[in-house]
Amino acid sequence: MSGMIVVGAQWGDEGKGKIVDVFSANADFVVRYQGGANAGHTLVVNGEKTVLHLVPSGILRADTACVIAAGVVVDVEGIVSEIAKIRSNGYLQNPKQLMISESATLILPFHKALDAAREKSLSDDKIGTTGKGIGPAYEDRASRRALVLGDLFDSENLRKKLELCLQEKNQLLKFYGAAEFAVEPLLLQLAKVAQALEPYRCKDVSTIVHKALKNGKRVLFEGAQGTLLDTLHGTYPFVTSSSTIAGSACIGTGVGPTAISKVIGIFKAYTTRVGSGPFPTELNDELGERIRREGHEFGATTGRPRRCGWLDLVAMKYAIRINGITNLSLMKLDILTGFDKIGVCTGYKLDGEVISDFPSHVRDLEKVEPIYEYFQGWKEDLSKVSNLKDLPRNTTNYIDFIGNQLATPIDVISVGPGREQTLWVKPLFA
Ligand code: GDP
Ligand code: IMO
Ligand code: MG
Repeated sequence: MSGMIVVGAQWGDEGKGKIVDVFSANADFVVRYQGGANAGHTLVVNGEKTVLHLVPSGILRADTACVIAAGVVVDVEGIVSEIAKIRSNGYLQNPKQLMISESATLILPFHKALDAAREKSLSDDKIGTTGKGIGPAYEDRASRRALVLGDLFDSENLRKKLELCLQEKNQLLKFYGAAEFAVEPLLLQLAKVAQALEPYRCKDVSTIVHKALKNGKRVLFEGAQGTLLDTLHGTYPFVTSSSTIAGSACIGTGVGPTAISKVIGIFKAYTTRVGSGPFPTELNDELGERIRREGHEFGATTGRPRRCGWLDLVAMKYAIRINGITNLSLMKLDILTGFDKIGVCTGYKLDGEVISDFPSHVRDLEKVEPIYEYFQGWKEDLSKVSNLKDLPRNTTNYIDFIGNQLATPIDVISVGPGREQTLWVKPLFA
């Protein structure tokens, strides 16, 4: 079967949206399987920028069906306005192009209020969440209180479930000194949401995706966030609340692992992180500032400045291992133009000893000192390079070193945000 997963190999914002848009030229389906509107996936087509939060990044191609699967947490306010915006830009004219699983968990306004109230209460220990209600919504799913998309279309049950959920949420909001929510206005709001989402509701996403795979259709699974934000395998507790790694595609969609033939790891030529938590190769100096400036490293969802640093091969090897990455896509190489020296972290020092494995506990990760190798930079503008052989020698030295260290083929090299600024070493999804 020809399922292919696109997964972020760092702390998110690697350029997954761009790659999914590029790959979806050859995909029949694009499936979002986890996360919520904490994601901000940017697509640039003919110079026009589209930022997607919940809708899969295949949506700009009318022939590609887009699916939001059960594992996603759907912000009822966000999804309606996102769809409206996409439609007003001339896309998604046929509602059949987008299917949202009736089993997807809803994010309601009180989840966002609770997210904000918790962050406020943490003062110095904030996670730095996006404030989109992700944690509280996944908690409700796990504790079996969550409302799902299908509930919107069953008004009797909706009231009952909302009352039950809210009873507890209001106690929690009171505990944090935040304003409580009333049932009636929420029910009115949800009636409008139901009307807007009716054309997209889908009773059985798992069956549709399974049939597509069985019939040889090409299905792209679009990850959100990044490996190091995974709730189990990331830099806990500075993580998101879903499983972001490749295995999550099967769980979130309801397909078996045997449906997957490739896992594509997306990574930038350097590293960024938004929010709190350890970041061994962070550059808290003019170099970090310069990467942020040149790379326009500001969050697509919150606008916050992203923390920037050199590429970390210890973290990348870990990502390759836990995702089972088969191929890599190297992004934003053009941003490194003009740097005299480019650093790459090849190992860590922990308590005086050299280690090559990514520590599993943040206590250790906070203490590690990166070991760097430095490469000669290049001056040439890469953004107009359309042929691999036109890449400067120093650039290919850098790419070859990374590929050898990671022992995984780098099949795609991205030199700009646009669709056309993509160099193919080997076709992945032709
Ligand atoms: P995602 O969350 O992984 O989809 O990534 P984001 O969209 O949050 O952030 C990636 C940013 O880099 C976006 O603004 C993209 O338009 C941009 N981008 C993607 N690939 C490249 C590239 O190769 N070069 C440059 N200069 N920008 C890129
Ligand atoms: P995409 O899909 C980068 C980070 C937040 C915070 C932590 C927890 O665009 O790569 P949450 O709101 O999920 O509870 O916040 O996770 N975070 C992201 N960082 N890219 C993302 O998504 C992110 N989604 C969440 O900044 O540190
Ligand atoms: Mg992003």
